[in-house]
Amino acid sequence: MSERIEQRVELGERSYPIWIGGGLLSEPGILDAFIGAADVFVVTNDVVGPLYLHALTGILGTRRIDHVELPDGEAHKTMATLESILDRLIAGRFARDAVLITLGGGVVGDIGGFAAATYQRGIRFIQLPTTLLAQVDSAVGGKTAVNHPGGKNLIGAFHQPSAVLVDTDTLATLPDRELSAGLAEVVKYGLIVDAEFFGWLEAHAADLLARDPAALQYAIAQSCRFKARLVAEDEREQGRRALLNLGHTYGHAIERCAGYGQWLHGEAVAAGICMAAAFSARLGTLKPQDVERIRKLTAALGLPTTPPPVGAEEFLAAMSIDKKVAGGRIRLVLLRAIGAAELTADFPQDDMLALLTEQLQQ
Ligand code: NAD
Ligand code: GLY
Repeated sequence: MSERIEQRVELGERSYPIWIGGGLLSEPGILDAFIGAADVFVVTNDVVGPLYLHALTGILGTRRIDHVELPDGEAHKTMATLESILDRLIAGRFARDAVLITLGGGVVGDIGGFAAATYQRGIRFIQLPTTLLAQVDSAVGGKTAVNHPGGKNLIGAFHQPSAVLVDTDTLATLPDRELSAGLAEVVKYGLIVDAEFFGWLEAHAADLLARDPAALQYAIAQSCRFKARLVAEDEREQGRRALLNLGHTYGHAIERCAGYGQWLHGEAVAAGICMAAAFSARLGTLKPQDVERIRKLTAALGLPTTPPPVGAEEFLAAMSIDKKVAGGRIRLVLLRAIGAAELTADFPQDDMLALLTEQLQQ
């Protein structure tokens, strides 16, 4: 059991802690302060439930606990699944003071969080993320959603959790590919806000891939610290929180062009970050040697650095569907240096096709 690290999301009365450490799911009573005597409803899925639900119920004591195990996968992040969760809450007569706990990756966290946001106009919930991506990104910040056939995360709400509990021991069962996908989001923090952390990642890439507990705990804690800061500054993404989308406009286009499910989100973001870095260099804001550093770290973490073979026109069309398009102009997060990013639409949009053709041929 490692020493627990605490980060906080400072949002006035809605502030909450993020606890990060090994063995948290073996600490009876650890969640009592957030639950009191209330009933608990756990949302998990059919991969994570069999692995960790027993441990979770073990630390919750003798209160009433019910749970639902969703079918695994992004394909089930739908209104129909949301309705099935709400049906269970209603059938179980859960009251407004009940607490919902999400136990799983970003899919379970997003849909369970949205159920908590909407059930009886909003009940408390606790995030217990079990993928690296969820531990460093999706469980923190209160974005909850389901997908619609028209696009990802189109229906949702901002609803902050009461606490986020990151038991790093759960990463032991995470497939290698999912671990690397989560590391893409960790690299993102170094690039947008902290050059020193980026340097630390370069020095510890092998430790992270080997799942060294201390390295993972440090990387998660730093990532949560950066995310908590951006969320506290800009909860509703009117400004700086949008920097978290570095590589995402390219990444979403990659996911779409490759066919959803072929690339993991984090893999697409990794290649997208490399494209954003190359584009920043092309515009003269980032040094070419920094683009190389970014590509080298991305590859060292077992992640792709280039997009799949796609035509520039198809790619541009896919980029234009992204939520980050405003007034017909694509907005991108671009890098001014390692550790400094900006959201901008101030680049030659008319040349975008030519620029993409150049990039996709590289
Ligand atoms: P995921 O939830 O699908 O999890 C990936 C896979 O790992 C799944 O098969 C899952 O069952 C399995 N898994 C989870 N924990 C495990 C464990 N400990 N051991 C073994 N297997 C485990 O995917 P994800 O990458 O965690 O999350 C992606 C989702 O997060 C997307 O829907 C995305 O839109 C959302 N997201 C939300 C935010 C936000 O701010 N709310 C941010 C980023 C991403
Ligand atoms: N993952 C982007 C955000 O939380 O804002």
